[in-house]
Amino acid sequence: MKKLTRAKTMQRQALTWRLEKRRVVIVPTMGFLHAGHAALIKRARRIAGKNGRVVVSIFVNPTQFAPNEDLERYPRSENADFQLCRSLGVDAVFLPPAQDIYPKECEAPFSTFVTEESLSTSMEGRSRPIHFRGVATIVVILFNLTQASHAVFGEKDFQQAAIIIKMAKDLKFPTRIIVAPTVREADGLAKSSRNAYLSLAQRENATILWRCIEATRTSVNEAETGVSAKRMRQKLERLIDKTPEANLDYIEFFNPKTLAPVSKIQHSDRIALAIRFGKTRLIDNGLI
Ligand code: PAJ
Repeated sequence: MKKLTRAKTMQRQALTWRLEKRRVVIVPTMGFLHAGHAALIKRARRIAGKNGRVVVSIFVNPTQFAPNEDLERYPRSENADFQLCRSLGVDAVFLPPAQDIYPKECEAPFSTFVTEESLSTSMEGRSRPIHFRGVATIVVILFNLTQASHAVFGEKDFQQAAIIIKMAKDLKFPTRIIVAPTVREADGLAKSSRNAYLSLAQRENATILWRCIEATRTSVNEAETGVSAKRMRQKLERLIDKTPEANLDYIEFFNPKTLAPVSKIQHSDRIALAIRFGKTRLIDNGLI
């Protein structure tokens, strides 16, 4: 397994692979890898096959964090990440320094950003206004540096995946986007690097996100003609109110193709929600 730390080296290697007619499958991550990331990497390995190359990027991308967010304390575990990648048959781990991606101390500091202007206005986009601009920008840079033929993202960040698919289509990227299902703990909590921030008590209460998804499924199963989104939101707000330390950011019921909110929830719709436990903000989503 190669460890590539410079943007130039990554791109040179990727161009060689593409000249050799190999697939290059990228799994973009911010590190502190867990079983959710591992599932994406396994999927990438299958897509790449024997001749293809799998690249895992580890880069805590500063442009997707607002000044009041957790950029500084985002958890890191480089050695464990390398070991996991090696055990999963990754060909190259790419970990560039921030200065390589966003040059600052130079004559021409970084000044170009990519913004998706429709799907990114709701949910995470409303709560974190600069977030998706940062995500789209780094993903474009990673696609260019790795010459990715394929890229694997997780359904855990459903809106992020939808925006990347739309961006790749709008900007005519030759990169196929694959979205893999959410990996969960036994009690339903979605695996996340940010779970490491939770105290023991918060960790137990964090199952509220999954319980909200399940409660919505049950209500829609029991109803014959869909469920009022307004009523369902009130019901979930009461559940969240009863959960110690849980502070609701948003609950949205939406059409998975357009991300537009629905007033009547049907089986083909999705729920997404964000809840704070102290300083830790958790998100989850699911098909109803
Ligand atoms: P990060 O949070 O590290 O996630 C990297 C990828 O892993 C994303 O596609 C995310 O959806 C996926 N993932 C996270 N938890 C998962 C789970 N429990 N099950 C399945 N997949 C999961 O998302 C980012 O980093 C960044 O925004 C990034 C795309 C790397 C751009 O900086």
